[in-house]
Amino acid sequence: MEDLAAVVLAAGKGTRMKSERAKVLHDIAGQPLLFYPIQAAKEAGCEKISVVIGHQGAEVETALSELSVNCVWQTEQLGTGHALLCAKKQLEEFTGALLLLCGDVPLLRAETISQLLALHRTEKAAVTVLTARLENPQGYGRIVREGETVCGIVEEKDADETQRAICEVNTGTYVFDAAFVFSVLPQLGKENAQGEYYLTDVLAAAVAAGYKTRALCLEDSNEALGINDRVQLAEASRLMRQRINQRLMLGGVTLVDPATTYVDFEVEVGSDSLLYPGVIISGNTRIGHNCIVETGVQIDSAQIADRVHLKNGSVIEEARIGNDCKVGPMAHLRPGTELLGDNKIGNFVETKKARLEEKSQASHLTYIGDAEVGKNVNFGCGTITCNYDGVNKHKTIIEDDVFVGSDTQFIAPVRIGRNSLIAAGSTITKDVPADSLALSRAPQKVIDGWRLKHPLKKK
Ligand code: UD1
Ligand code: CA
Repeated sequence: MEDLAAVVLAAGKGTRMKSERAKVLHDIAGQPLLFYPIQAAKEAGCEKISVVIGHQGAEVETALSELSVNCVWQTEQLGTGHALLCAKKQLEEFTGALLLLCGDVPLLRAETISQLLALHRTEKAAVTVLTARLENPQGYGRIVREGETVCGIVEEKDADETQRAICEVNTGTYVFDAAFVFSVLPQLGKENAQGEYYLTDVLAAAVAAGYKTRALCLEDSNEALGINDRVQLAEASRLMRQRINQRLMLGGVTLVDPATTYVDFEVEVGSDSLLYPGVIISGNTRIGHNCIVETGVQIDSAQIADRVHLKNGSVIEEARIGNDCKVGPMAHLRPGTELLGDNKIGNFVETKKARLEEKSQASHLTYIGDAEVGKNVNFGCGTITCNYDGVNKHKTIIEDDVFVGSDTQFIAPVRIGRNSLIAAGSTITKDVPADSLALSRAPQKVIDGWRLKHPLKKK
């Protein structure tokens, strides 16, 4: 039998978010805030995790499907004590240490959980609570101590003046002896200001029954920040980004201004890469070594190799970029773009489902969609792959060493053989064999003296 299990409470309503979405599904640095305490519990060695769901529970359950946890329903939200009791059935056989976390406290670190567990075990306590000292303890439950023993926790709404003056507060994180807590929970009453079954009452019950209670006080009280409204959501996001940016910098990445660099938790960036202010990097993006990402670049779920230079204002979505590529300024690489290496994609170029082999380039004002492009292909300014006929998408295939003159349209499906040249201003509707010249321009007409007979304005 394992000796560690966790329950995460996430059934509450989250009224103050004023949102149609469940509170715990709001995003912090690229994932729902509920995922953070679950991941911290896993990192601290906890494999058996139950999440108590209720309000908007179906959506929460769906979101949790990727995380291998058990969901337990609390159909009526009768309080935190009642919420834990809902998980009793699932943990019937379990007798070890039970970690309790709140789903709306995303900044709690795995190391803190480990410390809390260690204290609980060495002290052989029945309940160990994680506390924080706050300058402004308003809204939190207050910790009533006698030396090392926590005699009780008093909720703000039930506290008298002296108790309200206590600055040590309950973070809502505990380790319980499972057998003890499940034996005492059914006996709790709800004679309090909120008429709820308070989990916090377990502490006084433990002391009354002669069990040991202990507290661990957080060094960094930010870890206790609970999300109840969007102001706290923004604050927690800022603190989470700060952590992510610190990890990047300690890993050898230069951030010109960490305060305005927005990187999601899953992103990896190699050493000696440089991020300018105002970049947004999200999803499972990987960036290699010695890359430069300039201001205003937005990258989502892209794979970027080494020595890549992404210039101002470019947007990169689900693309693969090989070594030594240069992209932008103001380029848009849409999903399915693959640059194999040493490519140049210049200003106002858009690509989609386009694979360009080494050294091919499009320096300005071009659209390349549904295309397979060989090596050393040069796209002149204003080239367009006309890939869509209003119903279906068609492919443009361009083999190695083709030179495409400016203002060319490829009416797909079309294939251009290797080493051919497309004359500027051509509309290419038929395949072009290798080593040839294709041009399709209307012959130019010149009418002598025409402007003399057609002045712009009557004199
Ligand atoms: C709770 C604690 C308080 C502590 C604070 C820390 C109690 C009685 N009070 O207060 O001492 O300082 O957390 O943030 O426990 N939930 C359920 N089902 C319910 C009620 C709540 O699942 O019936 C969940 C909520 O979704 C939330 C967590 O439990 O994740 C805490 O509930 P909340 O109502 O926010 O408690 P607080 O009033 O903040
Ligand atoms: Ca709360």
